[in-house]
Amino acid sequence: MIGFTIRDMNEADLPYVIEIEQSSFDFPWSRNMFIDQLMLRDIALKLVAVHEGTVMGYVIVWLEGKDSHILNIAVGEEWRGKKIAKGILDAVIARSLNSGCNRIYLEVRKSNSYALDFYKRNGFSVIGEEEGYYEETGENALILELVIV
Ligand SMILES: CC(C)(COP(=O)(O)OP(=O)(O)OC[C@H]1O[C@@H](n2cnc3c(N)ncnc32)[C@H](O)[C@@H]1OP(=O)(O)O)[C@@H](O)C(=O)NCCC(=O)NCCS
Repeated sequence: MIGFTIRDMNEADLPYVIEIEQSSFDFPWSRNMFIDQLMLRDIALKLVAVHEGTVMGYVIVWLEGKDSHILNIAVGEEWRGKKIAKGILDAVIARSLNSGCNRIYLEVRKSNSYALDFYKRNGFSVIGEEEGYYEETGENALILELVIV
């Protein structure tokens, strides 16, 4: 079990975050997309999991009234399977509850079976499917929800 802390993301974390992003997704977010998120002070959660100064994973979440919407989450390949995403999710749940949210939702590619398993094992349920949600490939998204009150 690796010890790690979860804290707010800052601009100095971006080189790590972008490296993880690029190795995790076929259509990664750009640096500017992360910068835009860092500027959204009140409505977005931007968290990183850090071990000995190294960023191992991150999450971007929008707080939308009663809903907490996970837009992006990834853990570096070499750190996967060590409950780091679980730790990040626990922090998102705590912060979302603090902000008055009563559910967390997200979209995931139908083909992303590892992520789907991760969410289901952590209590999420599939509540819908959006046709052609991912424009680059036309792939469908599954919508997953976790009620947190
Ligand atoms: C989905 C993702 C965030 C999960 O991160 P993670 O830190 O590996 O997740 P955890 O360690 O908390 O949980 C992973 C689970 O898979 C299990 N596992 C099984 N085989 C594994 C393997 N070969 N490697 C890693 N974990 C494995 C782990 O034991 C754990 O199971 P558990 O919950 O029963 O303990 C990560 O795989 C990732 O970044 N994927 C690429 C980006 C992505 O798809 N993001 C989601 C988009 S919606």
